[in-house]
Amino acid sequence: MDKIRIVGGNELKGTIPISGAKNAALPLMIASLLTEEKLILENVPRLADVALLQRILGNHGVDITTNGKRNGDDPYAGQTLEIDARVIVDTTAPYDLVSRMRASFWVLGPLLARIGVAKVSLPGGCAIGTRPVDFHLDALRALGAEIEIDAGYVVAKAPHGLKGARIVFPKVSVGATHTALMAATLARGDSIIENAAREPEVVDLADCLIKMGARISGAGSSTIHVEGVARLKAARHAVLPDRIETGTYAMATAMTGGDVMLAGARPDLLESALDALRQAGAEIDATNEGIRVRRNGAGILPVDVTTAPYPGFPTDLQAQFMALMTKAKGNSRITETIFENRFMHVQELARLGARIHLEGDSAVVEGVERLTGAPVMATDLRASVSLVIAGLAAEGETMVQRVYHLDRGFEKLEEKLSRCGAQIERISG
Ligand code: UD1
Repeated sequence: MDKIRIVGGNELKGTIPISGAKNAALPLMIASLLTEEKLILENVPRLADVALLQRILGNHGVDITTNGKRNGDDPYAGQTLEIDARVIVDTTAPYDLVSRMRASFWVLGPLLARIGVAKVSLPGGCAIGTRPVDFHLDALRALGAEIEIDAGYVVAKAPHGLKGARIVFPKVSVGATHTALMAATLARGDSIIENAAREPEVVDLADCLIKMGARISGAGSSTIHVEGVARLKAARHAVLPDRIETGTYAMATAMTGGDVMLAGARPDLLESALDALRQAGAEIDATNEGIRVRRNGAGILPVDVTTAPYPGFPTDLQAQFMALMTKAKGNSRITETIFENRFMHVQELARLGARIHLEGDSAVVEGVERLTGAPVMATDLRASVSLVIAGLAAEGETMVQRVYHLDRGFEKLEEKLSRCGAQIERISG
């Protein structure tokens, strides 16, 4: 297994290109199942999760061509996928694939809407608390699906097609909003999705579906209207920039000090996180090129944050912000409201000398003068990158194990950081 070795202490200076958003690329790829025609996606990040979803879609009979790089192409430019789901050979998504990535469960809605049957394994997914799929199933039932659970599989049927309906989510869910939105595009009649997730990735999916001929209004607000159509058609769409990657490198820069341009980043996608960073003492400027982040020698100020659905502070940046707060001049409180049990990084940050104690759904972080390098273990995607951030500011060597978590969500992480002066390298195991 690969490891990442970091020797902390260097400021970050330079440019970091921001990749396409993983959390948009995945539902966009899945949306290809809704049409017999070709979907071309640009700016798709090169990530393990994207490769795995290619395999999962391949299993359904979807044909995906990746446009290779030509000489002189920017090595950081995203890939273009041509996705052709003309023939669906299999409507089953098996356990051994779905269990490796939760988002693959989202194939259920499109398969059901287009083919009328789907059998999808209940997901396993990463270890951040129980992550049920009841909202997905309730939304599809509201649209007229018959659903049974059989031997760990969701078996769904809509022999006469789906019918438009009013779907009211009891709690905001990104994935269930994707499921409802995709399924409703091909349902007969109108649907209203209430208490919908407002995340930019939902808007990106809706934008692409509209290009494919779907009739959708209100994406980005809590109420989305969908007027069902009989079929969807070919389209070309570029994946929006990754706001979580953007926030992660912004926090890394605030942690180490320095001056970094996050090229291609869009500040409007992460205002709450940028606000928190400003309060912590970072200087943030939006430019034509992206977002410039600077921190001078003045140190990091403590800031309390509470995660919330968009436009609130993202749970996917909670661990990274906690890493930053470990070196703040004072105490901060970080409250997690989206996922229970998303504090696995606390134990590992403590190995680097961080002082953190848990109080229910909050972590109280007592800022320390210095962190010291140590071997640490990555436990999930966002937790592992928080260890990288802490390692960049720790004295001496930090060795991050189980790097495959990072490869799921961060493209060329060690290259992007070492280009900016960090001492970071991958050690192949
Ligand atoms: C997506 C993101 C993930 C992010 C999360 C919250 C992708 C691929 N993943 O995950 O990175 O951390 O949004 O912003 O985009 N819930 C239920 N029943 C359901 C569905 C969800 O109770 O049927 C609960 C979950 O347990 C959780 C909350 O709703 O407490 C929000 O989860 P949700 O927004 O669905 O997360 P994902 O879509 O899985």
